[in-house]
Amino acid sequence: MARKKFVCGNWKMHRTAAEARALVRELRAAAEPLADRVDVAVAPPFTALFAVAAELAGSRIGLSAQNLHWESQGAFTGEVSAPMLVDAGCRYVLCGHSERRQFFGDTDEAVQKKTRAALAAGLHPVVCVGETLPERESGRTLEVVGRQVRAALSGLTPAQVGSLTVAYEPVWAIGTGKTATSAQAQEVHAAIRAILRELAQGVADSVRILYGGSVKPDNAAELLSQPDVDGALVGGASLKAADFTGIIQGAIR
Ligand code: 13P
Repeated sequence: MARKKFVCGNWKMHRTAAEARALVRELRAAAEPLADRVDVAVAPPFTALFAVAAELAGSRIGLSAQNLHWESQGAFTGEVSAPMLVDAGCRYVLCGHSERRQFFGDTDEAVQKKTRAALAAGLHPVVCVGETLPERESGRTLEVVGRQVRAALSGLTPAQVGSLTVAYEPVWAIGTGKTATSAQAQEVHAAIRAILRELAQGVADSVRILYGGSVKPDNAAELLSQPDVDGALVGGASLKAADFTGIIQGAIR
């Protein structure tokens, strides 16, 4: 089945609102013409969401947040809820990025709650999974990724599974310049697809599975040519409009 490719830029903790506006203006000029052939989104920090939403008015480039809390409101100092992200103009939200899991204690259970909360608010979650280097070296990649996918998606209806995206990001490839080979990526993506078939038979072939981890303009086309690699979640290279546009072009070739 032909799945429309999806390229999402995760800006992490970079860019003030003014800098974000400038970056997205540049990106819009370069990438808007490609956005009918590839779904494109950017995920700025919370503080820049409104500014970037304003800059993206009328654009096909979508807005994503990087995280959320699962409650819709309450005494949760420092947190931001799904309805607040909708209010800020978001269409997508990352759930369970490895940096959240590693540095901020996001557990499989938290990722599941976040995924549900996002869906309940009408957002499209991008559920992030991936193994660490010791896990890969001890041959546990598929076990770890399988556990993360099953946990995040447990209890969802097939329709809910159908409206989310999975992102496979090997932790050892994030920000290190080390990319998984296209064969390594395809192996894990195919295993994720098999789990999706178990969990949501009818929709598994329409769910997009993105690869993330040192994706650059010069390796994007090769990675994205794999049958189960349906796009990219891009960190560092998404902070340069030309590089991010080069990756989007790699999704078209
Ligand atoms: P890099 O592209 O900088 O390796 O980051 C990947 C990532 O974590 C995207 O979410």
